[in-house]
Amino acid sequence: MKSRLSTAALAAALGLGLAVAGPAAAKTKVGLLLPYSGTYAALGGEITDGFNLALAESGGDEVVVVSADTEVKPPVGLAMARKLVLQDKVDVMVGIVSSGVLGAVRNFVDGMKVPLIVANAGNDGATGAQCSKYITRVSFSNSQVNRPMGTWMAENGVKKVYTLAPDYAAGHQQIGAFKAAFEAAGGEVVGGEFTPFGKTKDFGPYLTKAKSSGAEAVYVFYAGGEAISFVKQYGSFDMEQKLYGSGFLTSPLYVKAEGDAAVGVTTSLHYVPTLDTERNAAFIEAFKAKYGRMPSEYAVAGYDSAKVLLMAMAQGAKGREAIAGALPKISYTGPRGPLEIDPATNNVVQNVYIYETVKGADGELTQKVVGTMPAVRDAANGCTLN
Ligand code: PHB
Repeated sequence: MKSRLSTAALAAALGLGLAVAGPAAAKTKVGLLLPYSGTYAALGGEITDGFNLALAESGGDEVVVVSADTEVKPPVGLAMARKLVLQDKVDVMVGIVSSGVLGAVRNFVDGMKVPLIVANAGNDGATGAQCSKYITRVSFSNSQVNRPMGTWMAENGVKKVYTLAPDYAAGHQQIGAFKAAFEAAGGEVVGGEFTPFGKTKDFGPYLTKAKSSGAEAVYVFYAGGEAISFVKQYGSFDMEQKLYGSGFLTSPLYVKAEGDAAVGVTTSLHYVPTLDTERNAAFIEAFKAKYGRMPSEYAVAGYDSAKVLLMAMAQGAKGREAIAGALPKISYTGPRGPLEIDPATNNVVQNVYIYETVKGADGELTQKVVGTMPAVRDAANGCTLN
């Protein structure tokens, strides 16, 4: 008869102690949920690089990482979140670039009680009316980076603006927040349009309307591949209006591909590589040493996501519930400046920088900071965490 002795019984019979939990079992399992294909593929890669740099700095042996490609499609994002949680059994998820994907995974994350560290997607609802104790955002909210720009532009004499953005949650929220602040400070949005997301190759018809709109400036949100084509086409369209936007438009990640058309564009963002602090200099040096290029705001979001997770773990947080509970209590000063998580919403509180893209002495495009809004905090916006 074939022996049915289990490994444990066999070990016991032989008088051996059985090591049930090897070193791997003690590790925290992280699921990176990011776009590795589609319009935002470069952003997913950059967030991953930032995340891996922070892990490498810490020795990197406390966590294991599995990644899943959300593309830029909400249903794919949800399917990948389900895979990470139900099949890979991750302790925590990190990532999400698109506000649409974040909207699609919110209920699943909340229902499964799995902590999610949002490393980009600005969806206001996720730290507003649809907030969750399991969702902590270290990147920015759509209104947080655009609201200060509305006030700043009105205060700096801009009166009439035309707006453009992709037709999905982030486009609507970013333009909505800009418009509310701009108009509250005395400016006027004279018109605007939302362009089909990820599908618009030719911005010509939209630029024609903007050109004859009577506005003195154009304010937009575009990111990734769309930002590159938009800025290049804007440059070749001979527009009289100065171009403004949220700072993803001229991100250091792809501003080189935009070339001279990006010069003079003024935008707002939570990080630019030219911030003159020791902490940022050390980060840039480490990033350049590992990857051979300058980091962008996406790299910083990945880096800080790993940092806050490692800080929570260093405080003893282990497993889903403990990590979710520890994250909102973290504050630290990183490459972008001081960062804290607002326990009322679980959204990050941080400086917002206004910068102009300029040509540096070496002819390379760089970021000149022209304004700083300190410690920008969102209102609770219907969130009832407190
Ligand atoms: C978003 O969908 O929330 C989003 C995407 C890319 C960005 C910023 C925001 O650069």
